[in-house]
Amino acid sequence: MNTLRERLDESVAALRARDARVPTVALVLGSGLGAFADTLVDATVIPFAEVPHLANVTVPGHAGKLVIGRLKEGPSPVVAALAGRIHLYEGHSPDDVVYNVRALLTLGARNLVVTNAAGGISPTLRPGDLTLITDHLNLTGRSPLSGPNEDSLGPRFPDMTDAYDPALRKLAHAAAESVGQTLREGVYAGLLGPSYETPAEIRMLRAMGADLVGMSTVAEVIAARHMGARVLGMSCVTNLAAGVSPHALSHAEVEETARAARDRFIALLEAILRGLA
Ligand code: HPA
Repeated sequence: MNTLRERLDESVAALRARDARVPTVALVLGSGLGAFADTLVDATVIPFAEVPHLANVTVPGHAGKLVIGRLKEGPSPVVAALAGRIHLYEGHSPDDVVYNVRALLTLGARNLVVTNAAGGISPTLRPGDLTLITDHLNLTGRSPLSGPNEDSLGPRFPDMTDAYDPALRKLAHAAAESVGQTLREGVYAGLLGPSYETPAEIRMLRAMGADLVGMSTVAEVIAARHMGARVLGMSCVTNLAAGVSPHALSHAEVEETARAARDRFIALLEAILRGLA
């Protein structure tokens, strides 16, 4: 088995052969946002399966792909968008979960924008709210950095202060204002899943300082900070968390709210990405 470094170098060589541009931003598209990748122009579409070592999604009918391109009109950075995310709850290792992000950062992207769907724990959050992640609690019990450190990627003990970059957060707020949107803020608790939380777990998470809860993001952010990339994280609150909500949680509700918020989320995302041009 090749080392992580060798695998990343092989993936990057294959990506460069398909598109020589160096992306400014690596973008992870969360639930309901995958179609954003198809709106990019001057686009190179690369199915994960066509690049050595890229981790592929296991949900049938949702083949993962990378799209390298630019926003439709106006100034745009080169964006490398991952449509199709790999989750720990599918049984993937933390290394697999972060592999595609690591590949894009190795390709040269210095900014990572991660998006997700999350449950709202804070009583001030409502379904449909777009929320900037200010910090996280990694409660998955796993880390993409466990095992031997790959020194060429980053240090053994990376700092996680300001993991969600203050300058990018400022840029996001300015972008939200420019498109007339309200952008909330909160601390994201990342759990393994795949069951939703119990009401007792949500009370625990609230006491721990969490405003949002979800089953993704934290591993990718840890890997990106290890590699020194700047990170921006955004959640769409798709439901009130268990026990906060008067009714049972369902994936259908999460999908429905994500769908309803999609156009707003995409408009905000575009404004933020433009700010990175
Ligand atoms: N909990 C965990 N993950 C989620 C939720 C939730 O309430 N909503 C969307 N993803």
